[in-house]
Formats: sequence, C-alpha cells, structure tokens
Amino acid sequence: KKGNYDHFMQKEIHEQPHSLTTTMRGRLRDKSVVLGGLKDHLKTIRHSRRIIFVGCGTSYNAALAARPFLEELSGIPVTMELASDLLDRKGPIYREDTAVFVSQSGETADTLLALEYALSNGALCVGITNTVGSTLARKTHCGVHINAGCEIGVASTKAYTSQIVVITIMALAIGADSISTQSRRESIINSLSDLPDKVREVLRLDNEMKDLAESLMQMQSLLIFGRGYNYATALEGALKVKEVALTHSEGMLAGEMKHGPLALVDETLPIIVIATRDACFSQQQSVIQQLHARKGRLIVMCSSGDAASVCSGGSCRLIEVPLVADCLQPVINIIPLQLLAYHLTVLRGYDVDQPRNLAKSVTTQ
Ligand code: UD1
Ligand code: F6R
Repeated sequence: KKGNYDHFMQKEIHEQPHSLTTTMRGRLRDKSVVLGGLKDHLKTIRHSRRIIFVGCGTSYNAALAARPFLEELSGIPVTMELASDLLDRKGPIYREDTAVFVSQSGETADTLLALEYALSNGALCVGITNTVGSTLARKTHCGVHINAGCEIGVASTKAYTSQIVVITIMALAIGADSISTQSRRESIINSLSDLPDKVREVLRLDNEMKDLAESLMQMQSLLIFGRGYNYATALEGALKVKEVALTHSEGMLAGEMKHGPLALVDETLPIIVIATRDACFSQQQSVIQQLHARKGRLIVMCSSGDAASVCSGGSCRLIEVPLVADCLQPVINIIPLQLLAYHLTVLRGYDVDQPRNLAKSVTTQ
C-alpha cells in the first residue's frame, strides 16, 4: 500500500498533486464553481449573520488558512472555534449563524459534540470531511466531501491542503452572486487549476528539506512566524513538528512578535519566517530586519526570485517556493514544513506514522 515509499506520511505528502486534483474534480468551471452538496443552501449561507468554523488540530488550521478569502468574498464575519473551547464556554450560537464543521475523519468527539450543540441552537450546520458516511457527514444539514483519498498517517497532510482548497471553492460559491468580485474570482479559479503543478514543483524541495532537517537535528525548539494568509501555515507547521518529530515548536503570529516572543531570540534558537509575496510582505521584511538585529538564527521562506532581497543585511537560510495566488499560497507553503517534520522524525529515529500517545481519530473527549 505504501508503494515506493517508506512511510504513509511520506506517501501522502508526495501524493498531494493527485489528491488536490481529485478534490477539485467536477467542481471547477471556466468562470464558476459547483459544489453539489451546497448549492441548495447557498442562499441561506449568504443571508447568515456570521459563519463560524469549528474544528480541532489540523482541521482547525485549514479553516484558519481559508478564512481571509471567505471573509473577502462573502463580506460576512467569519469566526474561529476550537471545538473543545466552544463546548467549555458554551459560546453563543444563533439560528442566523452558519456553523461549518471541519474534520478529516468526521468522527472526532469534540467536533461532533460541538455539532450537537450548534444543531440544538438552530444554526445551519455544514460539514467538510474526507469520510463519506461518517457521523459528521450524516448529522450535518449539508456539506462537502474533500475527496482527498484515505489518509493513514496519523499526521494529517494531504487532508489539510484539500480542506483549504474546498473552503476556498466554498468561498467562491458563496461569493458567486457578486459582480464586483468577478475578476478576482476568475483569477482564483485559474490559479486553482494550476495548483497541482505548483505543488509538484514545491515537492522538489524534498532533498533540501532533508538537509535542513539534518542541520536542525540538535535543536530543542523551533519557532515559526507567519501572518495574514500564512498565520495558519505557522501553526500547522509547528503542529507537524511537535506531533511527529516530538520536538517543541510554536507557530506564532508575526504581528505579536514584539509583544513577548522577541525576548526568546538569540543565536541558537532556530526561527522560520514565512515571507512569501502578498499584502503582508513589507511587514514580514521588517520582522526579518528586527530578528537580524538580535542575531536570530533565521530560516526564511520566500517566493522564488526573492532570495537576494528578502534577507539583505544578515545571514539566513532560505526556502524558495513557487508564487501562487495569495489565498492559495498556504497550500504551497505548508509542504516544505511537512517535509521538514517528516525528515526530522526519520533522522531522529521516531515512528513517523504512529507517533507516541496519538490516535488517528480522537473519538473520546
Ligand atoms: C456527489 C457524489 C459523487 C458524484 C457527484 C456527481 C457522493 C458521496 N458524492 O458529489 O460521488 O461523483 O455527486 O455529481 O455520493 N454532505 C453533508 N455533510 C458533509 C458532507 C457532505 O451533508 O459533511 C452531503 C452534501 O450536502 C451532499 C452529499 O453529502 O448532499 C454529497 O456531498 P459531496 O460528495 O460533496 O457532493 P458532490 O460533490 O455533489
Ligand atoms: C494533526 C492531526 C490532528 C487532527 C485532529 C482533528 O496532524 O492529525 O490534529 O487534525 O485530531 O482530526 P479530524 O480532522 O479527523 O477531526
């Protein structure tokens, strides 16, 4: 089943050009999108007062990555809830809300309990899952299957990128009635068609990520700074490193750096800064300058061709990735971090597909 690969996680990382293709199959037209599972509910969603994403772990991070684009196209406030925290707080949910539950397995206990809670409060409940026939798929009012294919490695990889793509397509469907965003929508639909090829391109960084993993073998901790579309990339990259490489790692919002984390910076702590081209680029450049000034041990992820400009005034290691549309860049940017977590784990001799203490599907609270 693993084919030419040593581990399922490795296979699933490299499968992403294919899994993304199946996720998008039948759903993209020239200038529009089709989601069979949502089409009868789009009107209700467009009229909702708020869209609430609910999920755990990687599924939450995927929703966070797609949130800016959904806000942009829908004009509806989009809020984020970790399922357990929503339950702990019994946060208010109303009939006028659309609650979107994101879960690869469709069986995560916290997510399902939050679903019960939202159903009992009268919200429209939408599911986004990889598992046909799962409890989530059955109990939601409507939804979208991500069709990424069965994911076996405990660390979620291909489901993450497919979830981002499905939520992006959902945003395109919700925004489809607006003339003012039409050219933006068409350009994103074009970028979606090109995405599998760009993913193939970024996967060529495999050996480079193995070298980087070797150079980071001794680290105790790894910080990852992102912002905007790639705040989620920082959180998700750190989650991968924690859960498979069993190494402390934290993803942080770069805008929060000077509000505390800056105190951690020294010559030894490795820090990855995500600084690919988008509206936040100049802010990330100034973050890099500040980290240089404190002699931080920097690894900068930048768009191809930006190597010379992004790291002027200090030394740093670079990860150059292909540039895609801003809202799809998180799909590309997570891949080198998935590869890094994978190689770190193998080098350290840990179990990649079955990390200690973890289960693929967390069916208890
Ligand atoms: C569906 C078929 C697909 C077929 C296509 C052809 C299924 C599972 N999918 O895909 O095989 O090729 O039509 O047009 O038979 N749903 C939920 N909650 C969820 C996920 C899905 O209620 O969490 C519901 C949807 O609202 C929909 C149904 O399940 O009614 C299938 O969803 P999805 O597979 O995404 O629909 P299509 O892409 O249209
Ligand atoms: C991380 C990971 C977990 C899951 C989380 C939710 O790689 O696998 O964080 O993402 O347990 O699982 P699902 O998506 O099945 O609800």
